Amino acid sequence: MAPAALFSRAPAMSSSPSRRAFFGAAAASTLPAWFLDECRAQPDPKAPKLPKDNKDGPGVALVGCGGMGRGDARSAGRFGRIAALCDVDEKQLAAAAKDWPNAATFRDFRKVLERKDVEVVICATVDHWHTLVALAAMRAGKDVYCEKPLTLTIDEGKRLVEAQQKTKRVLQTGSQQRSDKNFRLACELVLNGRIGKVKEVEVWLPAGRREGPFKTAPVPQNFDWDMWQGPTPAVDYVPERTHVTFRYWWDYSGGTMTDWGAHHNDIVLWGLGRERCGPVKVSGKPLVEMIPDGFTASSEYEVEYVYDNGVVHKCRSTKANAWHGGVVDAKGPQHGVKFTGADGWIFVTRGKIQASDPELLKKELPASATRLYASNDHMGNFFDCVKSRKLPICDAEIGHRSATVCHLGVIAMRLGKALTWDPKKEEFVGDAEANKWLAREQRKPWTYDAV
Ligand SMILES: NC(=O)c1ccc[n+]([C@@H]2O[C@H](COP(=O)([O-])OP(=O)(O)OC[C@H]3O[C@@H](n4cnc5c(N)ncnc54)[C@H](O)[C@@H]3O)[C@@H](O)[C@H]2O)c1
Repeated sequence: MAPAALFSRAPAMSSSPSRRAFFGAAAASTLPAWFLDECRAQPDPKAPKLPKDNKDGPGVALVGCGGMGRGDARSAGRFGRIAALCDVDEKQLAAAAKDWPNAATFRDFRKVLERKDVEVVICATVDHWHTLVALAAMRAGKDVYCEKPLTLTIDEGKRLVEAQQKTKRVLQTGSQQRSDKNFRLACELVLNGRIGKVKEVEVWLPAGRREGPFKTAPVPQNFDWDMWQGPTPAVDYVPERTHVTFRYWWDYSGGTMTDWGAHHNDIVLWGLGRERCGPVKVSGKPLVEMIPDGFTASSEYEVEYVYDNGVVHKCRSTKANAWHGGVVDAKGPQHGVKFTGADGWIFVTRGKIQASDPELLKKELPASATRLYASNDHMGNFFDCVKSRKLPICDAEIGHRSATVCHLGVIAMRLGKALTWDPKKEEFVGDAEANKWLAREQRKPWTYDAV
């Protein structure tokens, strides 16, 4: 069935203005009874509405007190004590301090890491700080919950994986779709041949924002613009480069290709059993020109990957969803992942799973089936692993490999050519120009060794 026909039947998910509201308003799930019965036997605690500090749990520091950071800290408060808050913007810090008045406040994350009462660090900064904060935290002996996309470059991911293995700290990547029943069921069914031999995976990601031109402005008082920029190129202050909209600039992000791709492309790797490797070919192109002096990251694009078994993975932006995932056009392709095999298809997104034939979902998996790591609470799984020292569901390597798929897409669309990727060596084959894009120059003093 053509994707347009599939998606036109999809119920609208939400037209609410905020991404958070959207997450909370997912459409009714059609999970089969056999799978729900299994899930009932697994812990599934509900997040409390108000911030709560578990005084008996480990000390937690939040680095990056924007919307996601505060949400992560509320979730972590069920398991630990929020001991420290850190942000380079005092306004953001003050907003978080209202929720956790007993927590110590900091502007420099390195000071947070000196504290003995901090055992766990949540890194919810802008993407270009994830790697240095997580590296510094692990080197200081802390366990880390790091928001997705785990990295800004492929080279950063390799460093994080190496550091995690060396320090033996627990690192959970914040790709919480891994702890969502719909996504796990879809991946288990696909992996166990329910749709036959997989041929193609289609991913739709919300289109980004094509806006501008923007003007420079005086740096607001109590905002450390230089520290916010960190390892990225120093430029004049432009408000739209910072909070929330940082994700539409190549300097700080990969646009929705990494913002949403870190979720949905992660599911592709999981369902294809490729979560610790990746594709072998990638090509792509932007579909629009961006506005001069406006957001730089391509807002509309199409990318195609091929895996070693011949499976084709298409990743495209959709204007049917707003940047936060809300529905703009219910008839257009909605963001999500559609696996197509010889015997049918399965489409999965937040709050919904569908199949070409409902029987594909209804039939229980046999006892001999390959089952995946089961978690129904992403933050809870992290704190369980902090205790048990086991690998969490979205460990450093998985977070790195999922981010890599997105970075490969960005590199292919920015270079505008087809590339061959060696997932073992983690380099492009026979393309020195493309290999230069694996890392970015880090503005001093913010090198890997500086933290
Ligand atoms: N898992 C999810 O579903 C999900 C959803 C939204 C955002 N995110 C991720 O969370 C991260 C934050 O997103 P957001 O929307 O909250 O962004 P935001 O811009 O609102 O917040 C980021 C905060 O980090 C602060 N910051 C920047 N550099 C810092 C540093 N060196 N030290 C301390 N603080 C620093 C900023 O001042 C800002 O307050 C991003 O990586 C994003 O991709 C994940």
